[in-house]
Amino acid sequence: MSIKSLRLFFGLPLPHRQAAAINVWRNGLTLGGRPVDKRNLHLTLVFLGSQPVERLDELQRLAGQIRGKGFELKLDRLEVGRHGLVSLGSSQPPEALIQLAGELHDSLRAAGYPLEERAFWPHLTLARQCRTHPVLDSLPDFAWTAERFVLFHSTSDEQGGVYRPLFHWPLPVPD
Ligand code: 2AM
Repeated sequence: MSIKSLRLFFGLPLPHRQAAAINVWRNGLTLGGRPVDKRNLHLTLVFLGSQPVERLDELQRLAGQIRGKGFELKLDRLEVGRHGLVSLGSSQPPEALIQLAGELHDSLRAAGYPLEERAFWPHLTLARQCRTHPVLDSLPDFAWTAERFVLFHSTSDEQGGVYRPLFHWPLPVPD
């Protein structure tokens, strides 16, 4: 059977060290619900949904035209959203992050991709469908330099759902 469409999104990957630290901290919160697997922790920039494989070339071309800059991302807030979604957020999202998501969004919209109208909400989902409000012993304090963005394929393997990186583009850090 040939694959005709892929569930896709652009996002920021996490360095292994930060993913491991966030995973340990998150597991200590006993959130319940459906925790996001450590290997899948990421921050979504633009969600594309199901797209024909034929559009991959165009997506690569469009993403390659984005002139984003690297930035330090600090995640210092725990947020509880709809449907028990618990996520890490930033009290001061970097301007370069907002710009990157905005430019990607505008470029994809201009190319005819039907994207959400909702304002960009920078967040890193920790768990979904949590029923209790987490109690914190310490505030989150995670940070790293985002130096690339990625086109992810949301798929599954023998271990369950997996966000597989397909292509990535650099975000040069200014001197
Ligand atoms: P979430 O973490 O807030 O659930 C892969 O599924 C990524 O794309 C997740 O980060 C998820 O956001 C996001 N995503 C999934 N479905 C989406 C939708 N319909 N609209 C926007 N983002 C979505």
